Amino acid sequence: MKVLVTGGAGFIGSHTVVELLDAGHEVVVYDNLSNSCEESLKRVEELTGKQVPFVKGDILDRECLEEVFSKDSFSCCIHFAGLKAVGESVEKPWEYYHNNIAGTLILTDVMRKHGCKNIIFSSSATVYGEPAEIPITENCPKAPCTNPYGWTKSMLEQILTDMQKADPEWNVILLRYFNPIGAHKSGRIGENPNGIPNNLMPYITQVAVGKLKELGVFGNDYDTKDGTGVRDYIHVVDLAAGHVKALKKIEEKAGLCVYNLGTGHGYSVLEIVKNFEEATGVRIPYVIKPRRSGDIAVNYCDPSKAREELGWEAKNGIREMCADSWNWQKNNPNGYE
Ligand code: NAD
Ligand code: UFG
Repeated sequence: MKVLVTGGAGFIGSHTVVELLDAGHEVVVYDNLSNSCEESLKRVEELTGKQVPFVKGDILDRECLEEVFSKDSFSCCIHFAGLKAVGESVEKPWEYYHNNIAGTLILTDVMRKHGCKNIIFSSSATVYGEPAEIPITENCPKAPCTNPYGWTKSMLEQILTDMQKADPEWNVILLRYFNPIGAHKSGRIGENPNGIPNNLMPYITQVAVGKLKELGVFGNDYDTKDGTGVRDYIHVVDLAAGHVKALKKIEEKAGLCVYNLGTGHGYSVLEIVKNFEEATGVRIPYVIKPRRSGDIAVNYCDPSKAREELGWEAKNGIREMCADSWNWQKNNPNGYE
């Protein structure tokens, strides 16, 4: 299939482009590079031995999108483009709603005008808020989000759902990612956060490489095995493979589908530190800090729906996730610079 990949230069997008090309699909990447750089795509070309057509453009830029859709006929759009920093979204709610929601409205409007009514959307476990059940199935009700970023995902799910209901020619797959970590085995592409990382794994790898002194563990008094927060970490290459499976589902006329993409296993912060140390031989000094506002205690999914309906299952365990995150970081201490 010919696929437009918005946000394809970013962390999950670049890994997905590798999997798509390896599976024989054609791609065009559309990204404004606000949180990425073209170097990631150069490396994707090096890894796959294929060219990656790239358009530097914004999903808010209707004209630019019109041009892209006039030149090529796309079977589907995999829509990663969006701002994703939880804390920043609290400071800049307008920017987040504008970029993520207005951007997606413009993108889908241009898509339908050009007869492309197939979309795979990057959603997030954050739409479950404080989850009503653990493990979380797709039937778990959505709950109020704790930040504007989360609301953009929740609202966009609703918008895409309503669009599909009104016009059943649309096929919409909402993928709710749990916590993506790891990197391509080659260590050539990986996560490249700006400034001090907010997320656990890039913080750990930057401590490991000596850029940061120690990890702050946000709270050790949660009702969990060791008091620290529990999450469902998933290898980014497994997550990327989930998109290839979702594309197959689109070909089978999916209608509206929602899938959790996680492993179904929860690991605490201290278990991640221990697994990282054992997988890499690098010690991670840490201190216990107060809880981070907005955090929940436990979040992991039941991934059986994706297994049954997409034939997808995460293959990599926590050791591989840690080893691959480290391989990327130690080979690229300054990311793509
Ligand atoms: P990322 O920031 O690495 O990638 C997003 C890409 O979108 C970047 O390359 C950025 O330049 C681009 N972009 C942003 N706004 C744009 C715009 N207006 N026009 C064009 N391009 C734009 O993030 P990621 O971790 O790869 O996440 C990809 C998607 O998955 C995002 O939608 C994110 O919200 C979602 N998601 C991520 C996680 C996670 O933990 N990484 C979890 C759940 C969901
Ligand atoms: N944590 C620390 N220290 C840190 C960073 C994180 O102890 O320096 C802890 C957190 O308190 C939490 C766990 O590590 O218990 C994971 O935190 P992350 O920030 O890595 O991930 P979150 O689960 O908070 O959120 C991530 C993405 C969201 C996405 C969500 C989906 O940041 O965008 O996963 O589950 F919505």
